[in-house]
Amino acid sequence: MDRVYIGELRAHIGDRVTIRGWVHNKRSSGKIRFLLVRDGTGVVQSVLSKGNAPDELFQLFDELTQESSLAVRGTVRADERAPGGVELTIEEIQLLQLAQDYPITPKEHGIEFLMDLRHLWLRSSKQHAILRIRHEVIRAIREFFDGRGFTLVDAPIFTPAACEGTTTLFETEYFDLGKAYLTQSGQLYAEAAAMALGKVYCFGPTFRAEKSKTRRHLTEFWMVEPEVAFNDLNDDMDLAEAFVEHIVGSVLGNRAAELKALERDTRLLENVKRPFPRISYGEAVEILHKNALPFEWGNDLGGTDETVVSQQFDRPVMVHRYPAKMKAFYMKRDPANPDLALAVDVLAPEGYGEIIGGSQREDDYETLLRRLEENGLPREPFEWYLDLRRYGSVPHAGFGLGLERTVAWICGLDHIRQTIPFPRTIYRLRP
Ligand code: 4AD
Ligand code: MG
Repeated sequence: MDRVYIGELRAHIGDRVTIRGWVHNKRSSGKIRFLLVRDGTGVVQSVLSKGNAPDELFQLFDELTQESSLAVRGTVRADERAPGGVELTIEEIQLLQLAQDYPITPKEHGIEFLMDLRHLWLRSSKQHAILRIRHEVIRAIREFFDGRGFTLVDAPIFTPAACEGTTTLFETEYFDLGKAYLTQSGQLYAEAAAMALGKVYCFGPTFRAEKSKTRRHLTEFWMVEPEVAFNDLNDDMDLAEAFVEHIVGSVLGNRAAELKALERDTRLLENVKRPFPRISYGEAVEILHKNALPFEWGNDLGGTDETVVSQQFDRPVMVHRYPAKMKAFYMKRDPANPDLALAVDVLAPEGYGEIIGGSQREDDYETLLRRLEENGLPREPFEWYLDLRRYGSVPHAGFGLGLERTVAWICGLDHIRQTIPFPRTIYRLRP
């Protein structure tokens, strides 16, 4: 079989091969015809020249439309001027399907138009680059934890209770058992697994009924959540900074071509090296006040606040010890000041905001029970979680990194919606 992928053509110079793919573009110049064919591994310029090819072939060339599917047989020639360094001299074209009026043309389209055609938009070269970087980030995430003795433990998607507050729960009827909720975070289950296996992570889709339409929020997004028995908040921050450094380093090392296709300025990414600055929430508030922002102690950092704080640093910054009131029920309080939670958020540079949220967990049974009550959460669905404090409770900590926000930052995109193949937001359920 002479079938090869475009990405492998360099190893076939002089050979007669068949490639299969789609018409990316075509153009003519005098007696020469250029057909740009893509197959997912690359784009190759295929050439027809008058005198060397039969007229039927020229006729077929003229009929070809953007995104028509075909097989092209030809000889591979080295050509440094061609994209990819090789060219194919066409000997035969087999048309598989003629595409009629492909709706995405090389001209500019509006974002909603493209989002409605997301199933086709994925064929564009910028989208290839983003999806390949997303894949690399996922690969690097797994590599990081797998290489450090963590066990992957998947958390369920249907859950009986809220993890991250009751205002963003998606609810569904669950047979005779009442209501089930789509998980907001696998954390509570990762805690159970950490008590069994020591170092674990879960990695899967999570759901939030976010009513806000921002460039940072999806209703369905992927989160990776490590959880480690006997770790405290400092250990958690050590892990988070090593983790982010590894992810960014992997993309820089393995996806340079994709970053270039996105015209990403990589200088700022090259700075992403340990140690990251660590500042308390109190210090973050001071930064905001110094920058004349009217921020009140006790509020959550909004998008603009996060941007101003992160602009003070040349790499991600870790903000720790937030007012406990605004944070989740499971976070341990700071023994030095019980108004503060032993929480940490990692803020990405360049205004990308929070990519990681984490904490040391409350490990005392009585205190946790009180927190459930204070937060108006029912006890019954959390009984199993309380068991973790009844039977051999230990200090432990973990965090969650949002995959799409991380990809948006690394790719330098102004909106999170292009970082996931089929985004779900308050306004979008299709395609
Ligand atoms: O800060 P969050 O809410 O933390 C948790 O869910 C913890 N249970 C994690 C843990 O400690 N195991 O969410 C973690 C991260 C955020 O920093 C953000 O990157 C991402 O998840 N995230 C979202 N990404 C896209 N759209 C949304 N609506 C998001 N909400 C959170
Ligand atoms: Mg958070």
